[in-house]
Amino acid sequence: MIALLKAVHIAALAIWCAGLILLPVLLHLHGRHERFRTQAGFTEFRWLTHYSYTRVISPAAVIAVAVGTVLIFWLEVLDAWMAAKLLAVMGMVMLHAWFGHLVVQAGERRSAYDIPPVGLSLIALVPLIGLVLWLVLAKPDLGAMLDRVPEILREPRGNAIPARIEPL
Ligand code: HEM
Repeated sequence: MIALLKAVHIAALAIWCAGLILLPVLLHLHGRHERFRTQAGFTEFRWLTHYSYTRVISPAAVIAVAVGTVLIFWLEVLDAWMAAKLLAVMGMVMLHAWFGHLVVQAGERRSAYDIPPVGLSLIALVPLIGLVLWLVLAKPDLGAMLDRVPEILREPRGNAIPARIEPL
């Protein structure tokens, strides 16, 4: 069962990562090109970006994250490298959301919208994907780094949760 879950996780994230690299290239090279200022070019651009985003890349992201979450609890992977991996994945999710915003803007505002040089995001995205892969494959011991976090942030304080609603 674990092998099956990992296979689904890896297949989904391969599609997600490939899509995250493809989308900024499409938006940057095609969306900013004069050829796509024509109706036929615009239709092609919309098909490529809208359908790949909503029907392939976003569902793959949801499956990768959902199956990954199941794996965390199943395998009880609660090490520091996993927390670091989730932080890096958060960066990927933020870029994913930004690409979606650009796809919507390019569709709704048509030629009135100048797509920013989104291809530059690859400078952050590709190392981010590499970092996630390194963290999960090398599983580095980040315990020494955690030791540098102030004591007060690492220990439960033992305080009662303040009651926000007073019972009548
Ligand atoms: C919120 C998103 C994610 C969660 C919760 C998650 C969680 C997990 C968990 C718990 C495992 C099993 C680790 C183990 O066997 O010790 C795993 C495996 C793996 N994950 Fe993720 N993951 C996520 C996203 C990603 C992403 C974005 C990538 C790649 C860019 C990735 C790459 C991998 C790889 C390659 C494995 C197999 C590692 C192995 O079997 O040694 N994961 N993931």
